[in-house]
Amino acid sequence: MTVTVDEDRFRILGDLMTDTRLDAVAARRPLRPVPAHLMPALDDEGPITELPEPAAPRAAVDDVLFGRTAVRDYEPTPITAAEVAAIFAAAEAMDAQAWPGERDAGLGLELFCAAWRVTGVDTGLYRYLPGRNALRRVANLPAGPEAAELVMQSEFAQAAALLLITGNLAGAVERHGSHGHRLLLSRAGAAGHAAWLAALRLHLAGSVFAGLLPHVLRERAAADGYHRAPLLAFAAAHPAADLAV
Ligand SMILES: Cc1cc2nc3c(=O)[nH]c(=O)nc-3n(C[C@H](O)[C@H](O)[C@H](O)COP(=O)(O)O)c2cc1C
Repeated sequence: MTVTVDEDRFRILGDLMTDTRLDAVAARRPLRPVPAHLMPALDDEGPITELPEPAAPRAAVDDVLFGRTAVRDYEPTPITAAEVAAIFAAAEAMDAQAWPGERDAGLGLELFCAAWRVTGVDTGLYRYLPGRNALRRVANLPAGPEAAELVMQSEFAQAAALLLITGNLAGAVERHGSHGHRLLLSRAGAAGHAAWLAALRLHLAGSVFAGLLPHVLRERAAADGYHRAPLLAFAAAHPAADLAV
């Protein structure tokens, strides 16, 4: 069976965007760029790790979509920096293609990477720099058993890497009213699932989940929950041998 994933995806997202416009009209709220004082704090000092070209997909969407299932048991084998690049590029492209107006207004999603076992990337917390396909280090992260203290469910600390999606709730609410929160959650869901699909196409596995414990990103990435609010995460790894497809 052939599924026109891209067509369906963009039709559904188009409907969501229409809702956004109607919502703004109903609220009699002109859409304006986000003022500077509502932007999240910048972290522009950490060292940069350049990523290689994103790994090319190893399977078609049609071949992996129906086998997609949340996987929480992982092999300790590292994933590659090229695979991380592909997963993050997919999340970024999803948002860039679907919500260009929000991004032009200053409301880009921010993508963070908790890297534990990524070849060529030291263990740590990084912010993804989409324009240059690179990671900027923002904080240290514990590895091994201590990593479990970062997450509500310890199994996600066994992943090779986490994609952590944050958004500017302050700016979104200023721009859209309460709909801004709903819109951020939709965007994070779309980006997280695009990342998941990219991982599946590399024969990796994982799950979206609710993210790190709030204090972890607050202490390490200035995520105050308002100007930078954690939204969703995706755990990526090689699946445990008995789950591999
Ligand atoms: C917004 C959101 C948050 C989620 N948070 C968690 C979570 O905190 N922990 C978890 O184990 N799974 C979480 N999940 C994953 C779901 O539990 C998973 O999709 C569900 O187990 C269905 O599994 P399936 O994809 O295999 O059908 C979350 C999913 C969504 C959409």
